Amino acid sequence: MTRAEELENLLRLLVNFGGVVSKETNLSKLLELIAEQVKTILACDRCSVFILDRQTNELWSKVALGMQHTEIRVPFGKGIAGHVASSGLTINIKDAYLDQRFNHDLDRLTGYRTHSILAVPLKNVSGHIIGVFEAMNKKSAPFNVDDEGLMQLISSLAASGIENAQLYESLSKSQLETIYRLAITAEYRDQQDTAIHLRHISEYSALIAQGLGLPEREVENIRYASPLHDIGKVGIADAILLKPGKLTAEEFEEIKKHTLYGAKILCNAESSLLQIACKVAGSHHEKFDGTGYPARLKAEQISVYARIVSVADVFDALCSQRVYKPKWEPQKAREYINGEKGKAFDPSVVEAFEKVYGEILKMHALGDGKTTIIPGITKEMNRHTY
Ligand code: C2E
Ligand code: SIN
Ligand code: FE
Repeated sequence: MTRAEELENLLRLLVNFGGVVSKETNLSKLLELIAEQVKTILACDRCSVFILDRQTNELWSKVALGMQHTEIRVPFGKGIAGHVASSGLTINIKDAYLDQRFNHDLDRLTGYRTHSILAVPLKNVSGHIIGVFEAMNKKSAPFNVDDEGLMQLISSLAASGIENAQLYESLSKSQLETIYRLAITAEYRDQQDTAIHLRHISEYSALIAQGLGLPEREVENIRYASPLHDIGKVGIADAILLKPGKLTAEEFEEIKKHTLYGAKILCNAESSLLQIACKVAGSHHEKFDGTGYPARLKAEQISVYARIVSVADVFDALCSQRVYKPKWEPQKAREYINGEKGKAFDPSVVEAFEKVYGEILKMHALGDGKTTIIPGITKEMNRHTY
């Protein structure tokens, strides 16, 4: 390979790396991905990522022992990794065993023999150290200055991905449960099977987002934001919401306001998840051709999240019994969705719906509330008024 070809190759690997890292929100998977990629880019034998745990002042890392993954922890300041974390400096050594700072515990545990080692800090956008990144045993010679630069560049890309994944993980338990319970409160009055309905909306929306080819992070966002789409119904009077028959024109005008109420409840939130939920609540009754409500938005003016949830919502509403309508067979609902392609619904979203229809149907048939997206929220929380 000429130098120019080498550089071109490297650039390709880096661009690919950036793409891969920005898409993965699962922290463990992300760390594995990063290690794999770095081995290729730096032509080295091993790569470890250490994450700083500020609560305990330790660095932790996942190591593969045969088929199993074990978490190991080292005190902040110990080993090469610890030195890098506390000093913020890059360390590049030819033979780790000749360096007093080297911590042998890991090699002892894994049976691995570390020779050369290149360790750089992982810094987030505000410059805080969030971990350490180590490459071990370069294939030909020891790591050189070029490798150092490369490693620092990779590390900055990796750091932002890791921080995102960490934020996501810290959000995904208590906060998601709160969001879900909030959604249940809102739907409690007009849904016979609130928990099932919300789970359907959530799963259908995520499936359609997947079918559209959205990155995993977006799919997860929509999975958790979609159950809040009708939260604004808390502001609608029982006399209207629970009216057994057809609504008058004025009553329907009143119902339409649930989109505005929902957007108001969820607006100006810190969390990106609630920001998405706000768009969904405000725009899930907009139609692709501009004839929807409340703002008569058209096509791409409508957030893609809302365009997705709109299909999921109508499919589920049609397949469910309401005080004002009997339930439809799924096939009839599916035909209705396809008939509205380009009218109420974004054609590409309808195509994605078709692509995952098999999965949607399975989910629909499953509708017994045995499992929910959030553990602990069960069928008992449904209201049975049949
Ligand atoms: P929802 O019951 O969750 O229905 C959501 C959307 O599914 C509806 O939005 C509509 O686009 C679609 N949908 C539901 N049932 C049917 C149906 O039988 N035929 C067709 N073609 N589409 C259907 P929409 O129309 O904007 O209504 C929003 C919400 O207003 C409904 O949410 C429901 O809570 C309420 N609503 C609408 N019409 C009536 C009614 O006649 N009586 C009562 N009591 N409530 C109504
Ligand atoms: C060290 O950081 O001192 C060694 C860690 C390793 O072997 O990966
Ligand atoms: Fe709605």
